[in-house]
Amino acid sequence: MHPYHGLIGCEPFVNGIVKLLATLTRERIDNVRVFPDDARLLLAALEPASLARVFALFPDPWPKKRHEGRRLVTSDTLDLLARTMAGGAELRLATDDADFAAWMRAQLHVHEAFEGPAGGLEGYRERPADWPPTRYEAKALAAGHRPFYLVYRRRPRP
Ligand SMILES: C[S@@+](CC[C@H](N)C(=O)[O-])C[C@H]1O[C@@H](n2cnc3c(N)ncnc32)[C@H](O)[C@@H]1O
Repeated sequence: MHPYHGLIGCEPFVNGIVKLLATLTRERIDNVRVFPDDARLLLAALEPASLARVFALFPDPWPKKRHEGRRLVTSDTLDLLARTMAGGAELRLATDDADFAAWMRAQLHVHEAFEGPAGGLEGYRERPADWPPTRYEAKALAAGHRPFYLVYRRRPRP
């Protein structure tokens, strides 16, 4: 949809990378770079204020208490994002797990670099028109779940 934007896809799971590369080759898409590892490693290495938009769509919710440390949206990751995202850049998050949605909102609410949706979560169940559908979203909808779609902004830099 955006042939003139530079995109970077991150995925540590090799089968996902293989599938992505096959799609990029088949559809002759040349504006996507692939980072075949943990997104946080890339965030730590990028130039400050170099990202105009970040998507974390259906990141693993890790519902068990002992897995909380594996959740992608934590204050440590938000620090990395705050450094790497340009002022005003969007952070788009989706999940079908209500607890995880509330967790992500709580993490973002207390982080000084981000501003975002107010009010109850129920108001964020409609996918915005320019939001890409994904495989996990389709699985969630097929299972009768209603996902949440949240948009935050990196506050302008001084
Ligand atoms: C539930 S799937 C969602 C995939 C896709 N975004 C979708 O909506 O269909 C979560 C994906 O995030 C990947 N993942 C988990 N932790 C990651 C991390 N730290 N960096 C990059 N990708 C990660 C997993 O390997 C998995 O492919």
